[in-house]
Amino acid sequence: PVLGHLTRSIVLVGMMGSGKTAVGTALARMLDAPFLDSDHEIERAAQMSVAEIFARDGEPFFRARESEVLERLLSGPPGVISTGGGAFLSEANREMIARLGVSVWLKADLELLWQRVRHKNTRPLLRTADPKRTLTDLLAQRLPHYSKAQVAVEAEPGLSVPDMARKVIAH
Ligand code: S3P
Repeated sequence: PVLGHLTRSIVLVGMMGSGKTAVGTALARMLDAPFLDSDHEIERAAQMSVAEIFARDGEPFFRARESEVLERLLSGPPGVISTGGGAFLSEANREMIARLGVSVWLKADLELLWQRVRHKNTRPLLRTADPKRTLTDLLAQRLPHYSKAQVAVEAEPGLSVPDMARKVIAH
């Protein structure tokens, strides 16, 4: 551990492919803090993948479960929390995240995001005829929301996961 115990959570926000889960895992290890990934929590409770939940129950149902996870975390100990890419878009979620601790936007540009998500089939929102176009549009719509995070940390191509985690700590 590089720091003492966390008194507030570190909540990672940003686009799919920005590295929230990978960096969050490394960060939690470095800080000797608990790690929680909101997508994984939803999947565990539902016994289904995010893609299956979207297909069976729809996005609004998924968003409701996502908000419930954040709400439940409010009564738990602080830790490192990775959110799904859509979690920081609603005002209600942003308020809960502000109560949990510091929001950290892992800020990556379109090309880096695309290189990381293009060969994966786990993001239901990208199952479109032109996924790169969809990613481009989502990024444009979401930038104004992500920029409300308290801290922004630039994800540069070639930076390793541990180096990115160290960069978050430095900020
Ligand atoms: C989503 C991002 C995903 C997951 C769901 C919706 C989004 O999480 O929550 O597919 O709206 O951007 P990751 O950001 O971890 O891929």
